[in-house]
Amino acid sequence: MTINTDNAKTVTQAILSRITTRGYLDKPVPEDMLKGIFETARRTPSGGNLQPWNVHVLTGEPLDAFRGEVIGKLMQGQTEGDTYQAYPSPLWEPMRSWRYKLGEDMYGLLGIAKDDKPARLMQVGQNFNFFGAPVGILVTIDKRMDAPQFIDIGIYLQTLMLLAREQGLHTAPQGAWRAFPETVKKHTNHPDEQQILVGMSMGYADPDKPVNDLVSDRAGFSELVNFHT
Ligand SMILES: Cc1cc2nc3c(=O)[nH]c(=O)nc-3n(C[C@H](O)[C@H](O)[C@H](O)COP(=O)(O)O)c2cc1C
Repeated sequence: MTINTDNAKTVTQAILSRITTRGYLDKPVPEDMLKGIFETARRTPSGGNLQPWNVHVLTGEPLDAFRGEVIGKLMQGQTEGDTYQAYPSPLWEPMRSWRYKLGEDMYGLLGIAKDDKPARLMQVGQNFNFFGAPVGILVTIDKRMDAPQFIDIGIYLQTLMLLAREQGLHTAPQGAWRAFPETVKKHTNHPDEQQILVGMSMGYADPDKPVNDLVSDRAGFSELVNFHT
């Protein structure tokens, strides 16, 4: 399947055409378009109207300086210690298999063999180039916040992702940025009380990148949704 780069005209189209996009065109996003997305996303709901998202949008030189430094550290084998664990460990079924299948489908599309650890690591490393996107977004949160505010930020991310689709843009939400809290702080200058929670790539999808043909599986809705009627 080829990635749908049309401007979504309905919420349903935006939801169905959104995929985590791991390859972008070298084409800037117009500033007005970008600011329009963040203007509208202000209307995201949050418990108690706390609006716990602190958002840093990097483009151009600041973006290149940031990702350049992170990639430089990666090449020297340096990381900064994850701010949180991505998944419960060990993960149990069926989530364990869902996660495994996602990886197998992605590496399969890219022609990367199971035992080709260096190639797999290179692909994971693409996270830290924001997959070549012209816009890198970093969301920081006050360390005193907890699960209810993480929910709010999840809703905020989905708002951004759907608004991006309306503009013909694509996105990739990225927990991966939890691995570079110090470099994030250096480049965003966020206050000491905050820490990186999540990032996002945004830009025009490259339809020629095979990785963008990945359509991830989903459970049937009746597996996870219970109607009590
Ligand atoms: C909060 C969050 C964090 C994620 N972090 C990453 C990440 O660091 N790197 C990545 O490649 N994908 C990341 N993803 C993308 C998921 O793998 C993806 O959403 C899932 O496999 C479903 O695929 P889809 O988004 O293409 O529908 C993240 C998604 C979410 C919602």
